[in-house]
Amino acid sequence: MDRVASIIGCGTIGAGWAARLVLHGWRVQAHDASAAAEQVLQLTLAQARKAYGELHTVAPVEGELVFCTRAEDSLANAAVVIESLPENLALKQRVYQSIELGVSAETLLLSSTSGFKPSDLGAELAHPERFLVSHPFNPVYLLPLVEVVPHPRCSEATRALALSVLASADMRPLLVRTEIDGHIADRLLEAMWREALWLVHDNVATTGEIDDAIKYGFGLRMAHMGLFETYRLGGGAGGFEAFLAQFGPALQWPWSHLTDVPDLDEALVKKIVAQSDEQTGDVTHEQRMQDRDTKLVAILKAVAG
Ligand SMILES: NC(=O)c1ccc[n+]([C@@H]2O[C@H](COP(=O)([O-])OP(=O)(O)OC[C@H]3O[C@@H](n4cnc5c(N)ncnc54)[C@H](O)[C@@H]3O)[C@@H](O)[C@H]2O)c1
Repeated sequence: MDRVASIIGCGTIGAGWAARLVLHGWRVQAHDASAAAEQVLQLTLAQARKAYGELHTVAPVEGELVFCTRAEDSLANAAVVIESLPENLALKQRVYQSIELGVSAETLLLSSTSGFKPSDLGAELAHPERFLVSHPFNPVYLLPLVEVVPHPRCSEATRALALSVLASADMRPLLVRTEIDGHIADRLLEAMWREALWLVHDNVATTGEIDDAIKYGFGLRMAHMGLFETYRLGGGAGGFEAFLAQFGPALQWPWSHLTDVPDLDEALVKKIVAQSDEQTGDVTHEQRMQDRDTKLVAILKAVAG
């Protein structure tokens, strides 16, 4: 397979994909409706290069990044197209129609969607058998996980090809066998997000206090043990059985709002934004990203192997 990828939509996620692939030797032909995206791409690539310098002892053999103002130019000779447009079903479906006109029936078509199911996204596709969701995490150039959800008509060979392409870019593909809104990781994150919104809404905690509760506590464990391995240790030598015997009944206690969702009205939005602004202080967006990358590199090194 020629290592040529087309990225359609180059915001936070598309630019992250572009940087990861270029730093793994791919030629990336990136297209975005906004001319400003070219600068986002260059900045993201520079940031990723810096992070890779800290992460790896050997400098990567870089591919090439080409910005295409016309979508059709970005599709030329592409073995893989990665759609990273805003989370809007109708927009994505409309753009797929023009993508299909510009590529062969074998070209892999991947979507970064955080929540849509491939059968919904690919409802109008002429060739859904080469369509998969490949849901990455921000920053795409550093976080290895990519959730792969094949379209129900996707062939076994295409599925294997997609997994191998993503693995070749040093990603950790997680095959999601059952289509479900939000895939796996965002289902989990939504549960925490919902409870965090309630805590702010009810004046129990500020955005900063919630972040402290995560980053100085269970967040540190989760980076290397996930949830089930963490809880197993919580059960002591008795393992999961002991854990469930002790903490299982707590699920019946009124600890949380469970599936009740707070209304994200103007007052709650203003409160969250004000608290978050205060929490961040004078630190610029660029400084935050740099700090995030430096710490992520340290965590990746710590949990390697
Ligand atoms: N932001 C995240 O943390 C995150 C994480 C994982 C997955 N995702 C998913 O990735 C996708 C992109 O999210 P994002 O956060 O990068 O969005 P974004 O808004 O940062 O970027 C979207 C880009 O698409 C461009 N665009 C809009 N319409 C276009 C068109 N018709 N043709 C070409 N370009 C067009 C915009 O100019 C913009 O640069 C979404 O499906 C989202 O659910 C986001």
